[in-house]
This record gives sequence, structure tokens and C-alpha cells, in this order.
Amino acid sequence: MCGIVGYVGPQQAHDVVIAGLRRLEYRGYDSAGIAVIDGGAIASDKRAGKLANLVTALEESPLPAATTGIGHTRWATHGAPTDTNAHPHLGEKRRAAVVHNGIIENFVTLREELELAGHELLSETDTEVAAHLLEVALTECDDLTRAMQATCRRLEGAFTLVAIDAQDPSRVVAARRNSPLVVGLGEGENFLGSDVAAFIEHTREALELGQDQVVTITAEGVEVTDFEGHAAEGTRYHVDWDLSAAEKDGYDWFMRKEIFEQPRAVADALLGRHDGDGLLQLDEVRISEDELREVDKIVIIGCGTANYAGLVAKYAIEHWTRIPCEVELAHEFRYRDPILTRNTLVVAISQSGETADTLMAIRYARQQKARVLAVCNTNGSTIPRESDAVIYTHAGPEIGVASTKGFLTQLIACYLLGLYLAQVRGTKFGDEIAAVVDELAKMPDHVQCLLDSAEQVYELARTYAGTRSVLFLGRHAGFPVALEGALKLKELAYIHAEGFAAGELKHGPIALIEEGLPVFCVMPPRGRDQLHDKMVSAIQEIRARGARTLVLVEEGDEEVTRYADELIRLPVVPTLLQPVVATVPLQLFACELATAMGHDVDQPRNLAKSVTVE
Ligand code: F6R
Repeated sequence: MCGIVGYVGPQQAHDVVIAGLRRLEYRGYDSAGIAVIDGGAIASDKRAGKLANLVTALEESPLPAATTGIGHTRWATHGAPTDTNAHPHLGEKRRAAVVHNGIIENFVTLREELELAGHELLSETDTEVAAHLLEVALTECDDLTRAMQATCRRLEGAFTLVAIDAQDPSRVVAARRNSPLVVGLGEGENFLGSDVAAFIEHTREALELGQDQVVTITAEGVEVTDFEGHAAEGTRYHVDWDLSAAEKDGYDWFMRKEIFEQPRAVADALLGRHDGDGLLQLDEVRISEDELREVDKIVIIGCGTANYAGLVAKYAIEHWTRIPCEVELAHEFRYRDPILTRNTLVVAISQSGETADTLMAIRYARQQKARVLAVCNTNGSTIPRESDAVIYTHAGPEIGVASTKGFLTQLIACYLLGLYLAQVRGTKFGDEIAAVVDELAKMPDHVQCLLDSAEQVYELARTYAGTRSVLFLGRHAGFPVALEGALKLKELAYIHAEGFAAGELKHGPIALIEEGLPVFCVMPPRGRDQLHDKMVSAIQEIRARGARTLVLVEEGDEEVTRYADELIRLPVVPTLLQPVVATVPLQLFACELATAMGHDVDQPRNLAKSVTVE
């Protein structure tokens, strides 16, 4: 949610900043802007719309050569996406320029205060307030770092701020509270970014900043303090992926590339997590086995797709461990006064590790003394840092706004967690656990098989381009798959799509069925006899009312064939693991249908990748 870049060094700041914004555009893309320091003055340009608009404007009217600069790509919170509301924002005397990600909650009070003091604010944003305050502080102390510290002390809410001072081209200063910021450590140059993608082509050495810290970068070095000015330290780390992972690699969309990366991602998520005998080794779970044996309730929290991964996890974890397991939307969780104790394990699922709703929920859970385990894809992000333990999903960077490999690897991590708990608590025998681990090990091949027959799903998607509505039905672990299939279609194709538990049909949703309505049906594997038969009945019922049934069914299951208008074959896998395979055709369908409708699959309207505001 908003991408931020900062640079100081020998290269042209314009080039570095624009390239960084290009890689961060997935975080927000309704306007973009840049500011550089030019001989004692700020030169800046900003445009509503995608980054391409700014780039065109800069081609027509280039910024002066400069080696210090900042940039921003926006997902609007305060104020519509217009040129004026785009960042950077400048102080009244145009000495300070600021870009911001987050929400400054006390901005109304601060704005009134500034206006009373005679400031004229040009935009509707909360950010401009920070720019004016920063410049006032800068005029008083003549030091951008101290001015930033003073400004941050006055702000409430969530923010990453990055600023430059027209009179000091040697540095860029940034600060963070509840919003992401990383430093890229170069040689004779340094970088700032909302995430490492901003500078991955220049360096893979990074510095992760803590909460409420200010960082000053110059070409020669990096200095970290807290908001009071006391020296502080970031945590240095090496980024374990490179530029190629952040490129499309011949695919039309990052999303399609990421769907096709899933066999590798699933294999990586499993790597090193069990020994030859199938015994699980989750070394990174820093909660002792004794503590895990005391857990008497699990609450899984997440948003959107991560929440659906949690719904799947509930079926598996309860079945394997017999620990009661609740699944809750992270943004609802802390507002309902949940019952949490020291023996509650809260599992927070987040691809980005920066989702504000989930972050606030884990803080609440920890205040209530619950233990928090994060399932996360992004190394060093805030949610795992603030959790008691973490299982990283190792999917590699996910850039397409719609989560795909993020979801599949979240499922794998949750299965591993469930099996590990079962192992520690003795609710499953070693050979039972080893048998599931064996099935998990086959998943990369199963997913690859589905990808090899993508063309069948693509054809189907092209047939339905332009349809007004699509429904998705599932039961048991297939129900969250239906929800996920519908979400992918909503966000990418902008068409009405709903997922239902098939048993719920007769309680209302069947009224939606009309002639020709496409309905995806996720058939449970034949092992679940009762569910299987009930699903066959549901398919008959909707078909009798005119629905076109697109049935995902395991290889060899012929019972449903005659009620299916289209069959998509799935590999034979255990029921609890079926979501790993059943989701893949639905991802392909949404990606291709949105492509056929001419939509921007990687940057769907109104969305942003990391939702860092509540
Ligand atoms: C949907 C999607 C979102 C995210 C949700 C949580 O395709 O990507 O629903 O799953 O915003 O994001 P993370 O997992 O980063 O916390």
C-alpha cells in the first residue's frame, strides 16, 4: 500500500528512483511522483494515474541531473488520486519534500494548527501536514535528521516517511512506525524502499528497521536512531532472491508467472522440514514443545486469501491434533473481546507480513498473553518480528496483487504446523504423520500436472469472458477453495462471484441459479463418501435449474460425469490436502478470464498488494 523509494549516491537519482518505483508499483498505482535536489532547490513532478503517466511527463519535461532523490507510488487514503494529492508533498517554503505510506491519524488537529499559524495547504492529504511540520522543524534546527525525529514525535498513526532537504543533498532521512521500510546497503550509495524489490538490482544487502526508528542515509553510511535521537540499530540481512525473481521472465503477468512457479514454491515450503522418516523438524518454531503441549485453543487470523488458508488449516489442524481451532478475520478479531489465555496459540497468516489489520490483531493477542505464531512469506517483515515464532513459507517474492503461490505455500505451512503439533502432542502416530508428509511431497508434481493442462482452463475462461456472474460451490476443505476461487475472479475480472458451502444452497443461494449461470463445483474426493454423494446431489439440483456446471473432480471419479457440462480433472489426493490442487485451475481461470476481458491482472483497480492501513 504505497511504494516508497529513496536514493543517495553517484548515480542519477531519477533513474534509480523510477526503476525502484516500477518494481514497487504493485503496492499502489493510482498516482506517482518524484523529487530530487537541484542546487539548493527541490525539483519535483507528480501525476495521477499509473507510473507510466509520470514517466511520460518526465520525458517531455525532464528533471535536472541530481544524485539525491525520493519517489512514491500511491494507493489513496486521504484525498482522491489527483495530481495535487500525489506525493511528494513540499513544505511551505519548498525546502523539504516528503513521501509517506500510512495514515496520520491526528492530521486534522495538526492541519488546523498549521492553518492557524498561516500555512496554506494545497492538498487533501494527511501527508502534506507532515511535510509542513518537518519543514518548520528543519528551519529551527537546520538538521533533517533532528527535524524528522521532532516531527515523528508529533504524529499518531501508521507512517513511513522519507524526506529530503533542498539545502542538504548529502542525505535522505526516513522514519517508520507500523509501516514498512528497509534500507539497501550499497557501496558508495544507499537506498530506501518499502521493500527490497525497490533496490534489488543494486544490492542484496539490507537493513531492517525497528519500530519507531529514524534512519539517515548518505552515500557513505547509514545511521539509525529512535524518535528521541538516541542511537539505535537495525538488523542486517542478506536477501536470498535476486533481480530475476522480481521480473516477469517472459510471462505477460506476474500473476501468471507466480501461478507457474507454484511447484517450485510448494517444494521450497516443504524443504528441510522433515527428516528421512517423515519426522517433522520445525526448528524455527521458537515455542517449546512443553508450551505447545499446553495449548488448549488455536485461533487463526488473517485477511482475504490468508483467511481462506486459515479456513483450510482449521479442518486439518483440528483433525490431526484435536485442539479446538477458530478462524477469524484479523480486522474483526480484537473488536469482539475474544477469550485468550496463555494457552491460546494465535496463528497469524500473512504473505506480506505487513497487513495492518493482522499486525494490530497480533499485538492485541500478545497483550492478552496469548502466544503468536506467524505464517509469513516476507523475511524480516513486521508480523513475524512481533510474533513469538514464525514459519516462513519460502514462496519467493509475490508481486501480482492477487495472491497465488502465497496461498498454496500458506496451506503447506499450516499442514506442517498441524502435523508438528500432532507429533509433539502424540495425537497421531509417527507412521500416520509420515504418510501425510509423503502425500505432501507429491504436491509439486500434482500442481505441475495441472499447470501442464492449463490450456483447457484457459479455453473455458475465454468462453466465459463477459459473463455477469459466476458461483463457486464446495464442501468441507473444498468450501474455502470455493471462496478463494470467487475472490480471485472478483478482484481480477470485476464480476460478481460468490463462493458457497454447497450445503447452504437450499437455504437461500439456490435462488441465484438461472439459465446458463456458470457454477464451479469442487467435488470432494471419493474417500468422503457422504460428502461426495451430497455434492453430486447439489450438482444435479443446480443443473436442473439451468446452471452450467464446471466440475473439479478427481481422476477416475465418473459418478458426476453426466451432470457436468465441463470437467476439470484433479490428481487423486487426500481430502484435507485437496485445496492445494483444486485451487490451481481456479487461479488459471481468473487470470485468463481477466486477460480476455482486457483487464490489468497485476494491478486490479482499487487494490494494492500490502494493505498497511487499517
Ligand atoms: C487476494 C489477496 C488478499 C490478501 C490479503 C492479506 O488475492 O491477495 O486478499 O490475501 O490482503 O494479505 P497478506 O497475506 O499479505 O496479509
